[in-house]
Amino acid sequence: MCPGVDFVRPRVREMSGYVPGRQPAPGVKVIKLNTNESPLPPSPAVAEAIGGLLENPDLFRRYPSPASSSLRAAAAAAFGCRPEEVIAGNGSDELLRIIVDTFVETGEEIAYFHPSYSLYPVLAAIRGAESRALPLFADRGELYIPDEEQLAGVKLFFLTSPNAPLGFSFDNGYIRRLAESFSGVVVVDEAYADFAETNALPLVGELDNLIVLRTLSKSYGLAGLRVGLGAGPAEIIAELDKVRDSYNLDALAQAGAVAALEDRAYLEKTVALVREEREYLAQGLKELGFTVEPSQTNFIFTIPPAGMVAERVYLDLEKAGILVRWFADPALEHGLRITIGTHLEMAAVLAAIRKMINGD
Ligand SMILES: Cc1ncc(COP(=O)(O)O)c(C=O)c1O
Repeated sequence: MCPGVDFVRPRVREMSGYVPGRQPAPGVKVIKLNTNESPLPPSPAVAEAIGGLLENPDLFRRYPSPASSSLRAAAAAAFGCRPEEVIAGNGSDELLRIIVDTFVETGEEIAYFHPSYSLYPVLAAIRGAESRALPLFADRGELYIPDEEQLAGVKLFFLTSPNAPLGFSFDNGYIRRLAESFSGVVVVDEAYADFAETNALPLVGELDNLIVLRTLSKSYGLAGLRVGLGAGPAEIIAELDKVRDSYNLDALAQAGAVAALEDRAYLEKTVALVREEREYLAQGLKELGFTVEPSQTNFIFTIPPAGMVAERVYLDLEKAGILVRWFADPALEHGLRITIGTHLEMAAVLAAIRKMINGD
C-alpha cells in the first residue's frame, strides 16, 4: 500500500468517484447511445475558427483570455442577458464544481431531486459537504415544491431541468415558486434545454437566487471541447469568477464555442433532427410494447414490457454493438436511457429489439 494514501482526506478516501458512461477507444465500431452526445458533428464554423488558430501556432505562447471574454459576449447575445451575467466553464461539470466550492462550507448541505444528475453528491462529498436527496415525486406521483422543513439548512438546490434521465421539463412557474420559497440558491441545470419547449433563461434578471447552467456538449455537438456556460445575477457571477481557475478554458475551446454559438441556424437544424428521431424511436418502441417517458431532451427513458428485463435488454444491445445506459439504481433499474442518434442508428436499435422479441 502506498503510504502517501494515508494523507488523503478521509472523506475522499471513503467516497466513490463519479462513473461516466463508457467511452470506447477510438476506432472501436459501436453505435454509441450512452452519453447523450449529438448525432451530428458541430457546425463547420467551429473547425474553421479552430483551424484559423492552428494556422498561427505562435498564438499558443500566450495564455488565453482569462475571463473567456468573447465567449461570454457571444453567450450573453444568445441568452438575452448581459456579459457580466454569464460565466464560462470547462464543461458545465466545472461550473457545478465552482458553484459548490463558492457556496458550501465543509459540513453544510446541498439538495437535489433523486433521480437526477448523480454528479451533485460527488461534488458535495469532495467539498466535505452533505447531500440531501429528495424524492422527485410526491406520494401520488405528482411534482411538488419542497417545503421549508425539507430544505432547512440547505444552501444550494440543484434542479435538473429537463430531468435526466427521465426527460421532462419543469416549467418556469414551478422554478419561480421554488426559488421564491427557498432561502438558498437554486441552480437549474439545463444541459438538455435546447431540445425542450421551455427554459429558465427568461428568469435570469428576475430572480436574484437563480443560476442557469447550459452546455455545448449536447445540442452543439461539442462534448470533446468541454464548454459549459452559466447565467445568473452579476454579483453571484463575480463571486464564482474568484473560485474558477484563472485560465479555465483554453484558446481552442473559446474560439470554437464562439463560432458554435453564433451559428444559430445549425443549432436549429440539430434540434429539429433530434426531435424528429426522438419521435421515431418513441413510436417504434411503443409499437414493440415498451413504455416511453415523454422527453424534452436528446434521450428517452423507456421501460420494457412485462417479460423483458431492462438490464438484459441493455446487455443484449451491447452484444449487438449498441451502447445504451442502464442504471443499477432502484429508482431506475426498470428502464433504459437511450440517446437519440441518426435515423439509421435509431432504426438499428428498433431492429435489434425486434429481434430480441421475435427471436429471428
Ligand atoms: C444533467 C447534466 N448536467 C451536466 C452535464 C455535464 O455536461 P458537460 O459536458 O458540459 O460537463 C451532463 C452531462 O451528461 C448532464 O447530463
